[in-house]
Amino acid sequence: MEAFCLRWLLLVWQCFVIPVWGLEFYKAAVYEHSTVLRQNLIPPTREEALELMQKNLDIYQEQVHEASKQGVKIIVFPENGIHGFPLTRATIYPYLEPIPDPDVVQWNPCLHPTEYSDTEVLYQLSCMARNSSMYLIANLGEREACELSDPKCPSDGRYHFNTNVVFDAEGTLIAKYQKWKLFMTEIYYNKPKTLQHVIFDTPFAGKFGIFTCFDILFYEPAVSLIERYGIKQIIFTTAWMNLLPLLSAVQFHQAFAAAFGINLLAANQHHPEYNMTGSGIYTPLDFPYYYNMKSREGKLLVADVPIITSINNHTLEQSDSQTSTFLQEQKGAVKQEQTDLFTNCTVSHMDGAGDIFHAKMMFDNYTLISLTGLQGNLQVCTNALCCHVAYKYGNTPTNLYALGAFDGLHTVDGVYYLQVCALVKCAGSDYDTCGQSVATASDIIDFKLWGNFSTRHIFPEILASEMKIYRADSKGWSNNDFYMIKKGMSAGLVTAALYGRWYEKDNLSQQ
Ligand SMILES: *[C@@H]1O[C@H](CO)[C@@H](O)[C@H](O)[C@H]1NC(C)=O
Ligand SMILES: *[C@@H]1O[C@H](CO)[C@@H](O)[C@H](O)[C@H]1NC(C)=O
Ligand SMILES: *[C@@H]1O[C@H](CO)[C@@H](O)[C@H](O)[C@H]1NC(C)=O
Ligand SMILES: *[C@@H]1O[C@H](CO)[C@@H](O)[C@H](O)[C@H]1NC(C)=O
Ligand SMILES: *[C@@H]1O[C@H](CO)[C@@H](O)[C@H](O)[C@H]1NC(C)=O
Ligand SMILES: *[C@@H]1O[C@H](CO)[C@@H](O)[C@H](O)[C@H]1NC(C)=O
Repeated sequence: MEAFCLRWLLLVWQCFVIPVWGLEFYKAAVYEHSTVLRQNLIPPTREEALELMQKNLDIYQEQVHEASKQGVKIIVFPENGIHGFPLTRATIYPYLEPIPDPDVVQWNPCLHPTEYSDTEVLYQLSCMARNSSMYLIANLGEREACELSDPKCPSDGRYHFNTNVVFDAEGTLIAKYQKWKLFMTEIYYNKPKTLQHVIFDTPFAGKFGIFTCFDILFYEPAVSLIERYGIKQIIFTTAWMNLLPLLSAVQFHQAFAAAFGINLLAANQHHPEYNMTGSGIYTPLDFPYYYNMKSREGKLLVADVPIITSINNHTLEQSDSQTSTFLQEQKGAVKQEQTDLFTNCTVSHMDGAGDIFHAKMMFDNYTLISLTGLQGNLQVCTNALCCHVAYKYGNTPTNLYALGAFDGLHTVDGVYYLQVCALVKCAGSDYDTCGQSVATASDIIDFKLWGNFSTRHIFPEILASEMKIYRADSKGWSNNDFYMIKKGMSAGLVTAALYGRWYEKDNLSQQ
């Protein structure tokens, strides 16, 4: 129903709005790939490595053909999609290829396959792009020999990089990006010598920026590309392990795109056994996404993407709120008395206030307050952050919900400073289950959530039952508070969160 409405709206936009505001679209694809893996501690030979990678490249080739039939101009494949998840420097080495710097040499591997040795994978990717006249982005392992006189040169005499490569529609290698924020488990890769802000140009949609997986949680290079370089379209390769209630792939990636009003083309791995699924094409208009824990198959997601320019970005922002209003009206959910409940930001009394308690959410110690009653207006504070919620149930409450606040340094699987206001469904009826992983819910809740954040980087997340994501009806700053409002959802609420990242307070040694 939701998807249908959005599609219908998009159609209306395309038919009537383009001539007025000049919105243009192009077709993009992301492929959620179920990578064929070799989980073995014995390093393969280069031949064995090529044999395995061929299995993945054959699947890539099929997807490129399929995308080509649909008129796709650009396709994105996930992080580690070609070689899988090796465990050590020795086991990854046979998969690595030397990748010449496209800023220094112009090379089309499909036309000149023998220019560099050990570049069989680059050759195939280049030919796929060329044969189908499509921009193609893939992630692979890169090696670069280094001199031991270089103080950073690893003792085995080579750098290993986690690298995205970009081929244009002729198969020329036009850009490469080496992942800056390696995840803790990527001990077989090295941090690049320099931080890179990689931007490439296309004839059909202008400029794109590119980064990889864990990068998305940090200012450099992800946010910097958007805020300092003015990039409005991001290519994002990832192998994202879902973590509820705040960091599942579709939930956070959509929130990231929505926070900046950009297009984010996110291709994830498909390995439900590692909780890896969730790819999407998140745009200011529509945000088709894929999440599937049951199927073992990959999935090609194709969508029309609006070209965001500084001229039409205002139009797109308006359309964002119009989309929501349209959907609400469809459900008859806009009611005057509710508006009053949510527009009054003064909490002079606390209706529906339960107990204040502490519980762990995603390894952080949150201060929480439980919801009671059909509607209410609550506040909970920690350090410098006060979080508020005004809420109204659409049904008799069946589960425990709580409003949590966190303002502090997150230190598990990465060090980064957070300010979070989160309304969560608890996993059980005990307070200590609030913040644990839950994926289904039946309680329909209209809410306004707000807090007095010290950072301006806030990612608004709304996750409903069965990993359904929603966008806020409205969001923004009101004096010192950042707020979002959502009403008339058709699915039970799992998490509504304002996930704030206070980049300036991250440990500087981590930069
Ligand atoms: C793609 O291009 C290469 C090099 O020209 C060619 O060998 C190959 O057969 C082509 N593949 C397809 C599927 O068209
Ligand atoms: C539109 O452009 C303005 C000014 O450059 C910027 O502040 C705003 O965030 C942009 N909005 C979107 C949705 O990109
Ligand atoms: C996947 O997620 C579930 C629910 O959060 C968790 O119990 C399980 O341990 C996770 N699996 C892996 C491999 O991380
Ligand atoms: C806002 O709420 C407070 C406390 O419930 C109430 O006293 C006040 O009249 C309300 N203001 C408006 C404009 O509704
Ligand atoms: C969480 O923080 C509160 C208040 O600072 C403290 O009393 C409590 O012991 C902490 N809980 C855990 C599990 O660290
Ligand atoms: C947020 O509000 C609380 C309560 O009014 C206040 O103590 C705190 O200083 C505020 N934080 C900021 C950053 O203004």
